[in-house]
Amino acid sequence: MSTGESAISFREVGKSYGDFRAVEGLSFNVAPGSIYGFLGPNGAGKTTSLRMMLGMIAPSTGEISVLGSPSAMGVRERVGYLPEERGLYRRMTPLETIVYLARLKGMDAAPARKKALELLERFGLAAFAKSRIEALSKGMAQKVQILATIVHAPDLVILDEPFSGLDPVNQQVLEELVEDLRREGRTVLFSTHVMQHAERLCDRLLLIARGKLAFEGTLDEARDRMPQTIKLTTSADAADLAALPGVVKVAADPVHAGSYELTMKNGADGENLLRSCFERGLQLTGFDMSEPALHDIFVALVGEGAEVADSRGTAP
Ligand SMILES: Nc1ncnc2c1ncn2[C@@H]1O[C@H](COP(=O)(O)OP(=O)(O)OP(=O)(O)O)[C@@H](O)[C@H]1O
Ligand SMILES: [Mg+2]
Repeated sequence: MSTGESAISFREVGKSYGDFRAVEGLSFNVAPGSIYGFLGPNGAGKTTSLRMMLGMIAPSTGEISVLGSPSAMGVRERVGYLPEERGLYRRMTPLETIVYLARLKGMDAAPARKKALELLERFGLAAFAKSRIEALSKGMAQKVQILATIVHAPDLVILDEPFSGLDPVNQQVLEELVEDLRREGRTVLFSTHVMQHAERLCDRLLLIARGKLAFEGTLDEARDRMPQTIKLTTSADAADLAALPGVVKVAADPVHAGSYELTMKNGADGENLLRSCFERGLQLTGFDMSEPALHDIFVALVGEGAEVADSRGTAP
């Protein structure tokens, strides 16, 4: 995809603090109308990258385009941003807060108030619309801040760790909100450590580790990077299993006799393996080829000692 079609595009973007490179050679595109996940361990460079998109800090190298502008500053009214550090005026009410922030993004007072009340109602905060923020719980205040981020119906929504601090019910509510935004044709980029949210929501995801891109692509593409493992229960022995096509390793379960874990070649097809077992007359009483969870992929790709791919996402 060319830069012109992307909601967000980074070209070899870097950010240094003195000698320290917080972000290095980062390139990616976010398609309009998609949900994009920004994943990585603590200190990986997620917030730094988001702040560069927002125009809050300038990149040291490379080029950024946000809705066709060098940063979100040039298109402020079309962008909503939830910062990592939460903070609202404690003396204001949720209603005042949302209306105030909507007005800063160019909304007129009456429609801003109407939309704010609608959102507070829909997200279970109507009873607190006129309480002071300081009387709200931390999670409730965070919900108010999320509503203030989207009140002006931005084309692009950038959320830094939006799920952290919310209970499971409100995490679910936020997932639905993100899906609603996509249904309305908006673009959403969010950072997270919680793989399940990314797994459920994202069209594409980016893994960043130590400031460099470790992976960029769809969840299926991330899965293809992981060797598939298959659990088998069989009367066949390890040598028979090792001779099957696509098998690179056979590990016998030390506790349960007849149970094995097979590690498959990248891209090997489990159904093909099942067929080969039947053709060779191997008796199976169990066969489990569940897909690797994003969590495992994440650990394999960015865990300690994992090699970091270069900025084009190809393995070194
Ligand atoms: N203003 C700054 N001066 C110096 N170093 C900085 C500055 N801001 C960030 N860093 C460093 O850059 C690196 C990336 O930080 P960043 O906040 O982007 O990480 P993150 O991926 O958002 O992590 P987390 O998951 O903990 O929020 C860290 O090592 C951090 O110490
Ligand atoms: Mg951060």
